[in-house]
Amino acid sequence: MRSSIRTRLLAAFLVVAVASALGLSVYFLSELESYGLRKLEERLNSESLVLAGMVAAQMNASGEHVLSQGRAVALRDELARLGPMIATHVRILDAEGVALVDSAEPGDIGARYDKTPEVASALEGTRGAATRITENGRVALYVANPVMVNGRVAGVAYTSATTFSIRTLLRDYRLRLGAAVLLFVVLAFVLTEVLSQWLSAPLRDLARTAVAFAGGDHSVRVRPRGSSEIRALGDAFNEMADEVQTVMSELTEEERRKTRFVSDVSHELRTPLTAIRGAAETLLDGDVPEDDARQFLSTIVRESARLSRLANDLLTLQRIEGATGELPITRVDLGETAQHAIEGLAPLTESRGVRVILEGSAPPVLGDKDRLQQVLGNLIDNASRMTPEGGTVRVLVSSEGRESVVRVLDEGPGIAEEDIPHVFDRFYRAQASRDRSSGGAGLGLAIVSAIVRSHAGTVAAASRPEGGTAFTVRFPSAAG
Ligand SMILES: Nc1ncnc2c1ncn2[C@@H]1O[C@H](COP(=O)(O)OP(=O)(O)OP(=O)(O)O)[C@@H](O)[C@H]1O
Ligand SMILES: [Mg+2]
Repeated sequence: MRSSIRTRLLAAFLVVAVASALGLSVYFLSELESYGLRKLEERLNSESLVLAGMVAAQMNASGEHVLSQGRAVALRDELARLGPMIATHVRILDAEGVALVDSAEPGDIGARYDKTPEVASALEGTRGAATRITENGRVALYVANPVMVNGRVAGVAYTSATTFSIRTLLRDYRLRLGAAVLLFVVLAFVLTEVLSQWLSAPLRDLARTAVAFAGGDHSVRVRPRGSSEIRALGDAFNEMADEVQTVMSELTEEERRKTRFVSDVSHELRTPLTAIRGAAETLLDGDVPEDDARQFLSTIVRESARLSRLANDLLTLQRIEGATGELPITRVDLGETAQHAIEGLAPLTESRGVRVILEGSAPPVLGDKDRLQQVLGNLIDNASRMTPEGGTVRVLVSSEGRESVVRVLDEGPGIAEEDIPHVFDRFYRAQASRDRSSGGAGLGLAIVSAIVRSHAGTVAAASRPEGGTAFTVRFPSAAG
């Protein structure tokens, strides 16, 4: 399971909290401890100094050089009297380091202390001090000062005190630490809540939007906010969403085009098939007079011819649009090509009683001669169909700038402004030529447009002011 921002923040805060509580406690406790020890040592030192001074003064006064038992008894009495004022444990040792007086443990009188470093140092005439841990875990401080009589060490004033127990210290320390951590935990929770809200709100926003987007609503976008990183993420998401939306709408459009194409094709197939079937069924019934039978047979021939032309046209379109530059490219003279197209259509145009004339010339263009002839053939076919009997179709070849241009002009009804954007669509037939007897499937201009585009050219239709329609095809002229 992935942890949330909140969990991670909480973990981070807790680590910081515990670490800082620990660090601070250790620091302050050690400061406190060393301060206490320093103070205590000062006190032990001044008490033992006073004591050493007092013993030395008494001995000087009575002219003694060695601490005697009698002096020891007198000192015990004196210490007992001073007792309440002396908080420390006081011992007076003789010049050998043997206890003559002990304020706290009278039973310890006679014990030897000459082996402890502080006493050893005092026996040599200089102050000694030490810190040790006693058997019951307490920190004890020891200070020993020599009792100087006539410049010689006559004894030692030895003071000591235990400080706070280390265990007490640890317990106290743990308690404080616990309290600090607890405080930090509470703080961490509050901070985490606030911060994670602040940090993750824009992320949750983004996630919500992404879910909606994935659910199919491609119009949703995030409002970039929060930190710069999250903002960048939001921007990136929006860019991606724009792209996906565009692609999706293109796909939908493509899908619609395909569906329309299929329904158009089946619609185109239905008419000739119905005619062929009707004729064939009538013939099958028998009893058809010779003349009518011929009529039906010619219907079958004509309609099946139309079907095969439709199939050819669709195939041509498919090939051109799916082609990947494998056209056989040669230099093509458009005048010559127009001439061939006119000759090929002669039987048709003559049957329509339309004259086709060719004028002008242009530099060659690069392309596929047969395809270019098909372009001009389709345009001339349309023009001659639209032109009334006895009229003329003019094919003008010319050079304009760097382009070789062919215009096909007819004397027909012209072309409606609203049809112009559509005439190059597949299966499109303008209202005026809806009657199928005169027209084909509406693929001619779609083929023209596909071929022209594959030759880097353009094709346009326009009504002529003097009547009729002009189709203009332009190709880039071949250099040299
Ligand atoms: N010279 C023209 N004058 C007026 N309208 C035209 C002319 N040429 C084409 N059109 C219009 O454009 C439509 C599409 O032409 P297109 O050549 O693609 O199809 P078609 O001639 O009807 O059928 P097909 O060429 O497949 O046999 C025609 O039906 C017609 O309405
Ligand atoms: Mg046509």
